[in-house]
Amino acid sequence: MEVVIVAGPVEVGAFAAGRIAEIVAAKPDAVLGVATGSSPLETYRALAARRDAGLDLGRVSAFALDEYVGIARDHPESYHAVVDREVAQPLGLDAARVHVPDGLSPDLDAAAEDYEAQIVAAGGVDLQLLGIGGNGHIGFNEPTSSLSSRTRVKTLAPRTREANARFFDSPDEVPMHCLTQGLGTILDAKRALLVAQGASKAHAIAQIVEGPVSSMWPGSVLQLHRHATVVIDEAAASELTLTDYYRYTVEHRNIVQPDA
Ligand code: F6R
Repeated sequence: MEVVIVAGPVEVGAFAAGRIAEIVAAKPDAVLGVATGSSPLETYRALAARRDAGLDLGRVSAFALDEYVGIARDHPESYHAVVDREVAQPLGLDAARVHVPDGLSPDLDAAAEDYEAQIVAAGGVDLQLLGIGGNGHIGFNEPTSSLSSRTRVKTLAPRTREANARFFDSPDEVPMHCLTQGLGTILDAKRALLVAQGASKAHAIAQIVEGPVSSMWPGSVLQLHRHATVVIDEAAASELTLTDYYRYTVEHRNIVQPDA
């Protein structure tokens, strides 16, 4: 994995937005995988600023990682609503090209299969943006998720429901289930870009970057991805042991370019 350590959350967002802008500049109809939650918000802000400066995202398609099951689409915390508010509108995406799993489908297995088919029909994801849970989940692939899983229904871990209670009026309102892209689905993206900030993510980052590949730390599956980048601030990097090496590698990026 490419590990990039920057000063703080704003720098994480600026770096990630730069990587995304490069993809869109090369391919204006790129397919982006988008995450919800707090981690990517600075990235979306930085991308919106690039849009103000002339970056055109009007032909970009977006696929959300996940959606809660059984939450009305117009609920402000449904990922349909969050993706619209935090991603599609500020970035000027075409609503017809923005996709979120259908957590209200009467047949969730069929909805999951359909979502996989939609990603394939779009030509696959060019860059998947990811956050990480304190328990190491990416998407809502909770610990013990199959490393080759596809989009499916998952039960949210108690720790995830507690973490996401901040978005709801009461912890009981946090849905129990979700539809999430699987770890195998995420691995199919041509590039993966994980952003994390703050000390609360430090342990998970150390596990997924320097620990063994294990379904107990689902984000560790990114070690199997050919083009995975982890962009973190100093606080999120605080439990890594090879930080000097990561910094040295970044300093030398301009001399030796990673393979394309
Ligand atoms: C969101 C998602 C999750 C979050 C993770 C971190 O679509 O799939 O994996 O990225 O729970 O959430 P935050 O960023 O709110 O700490």
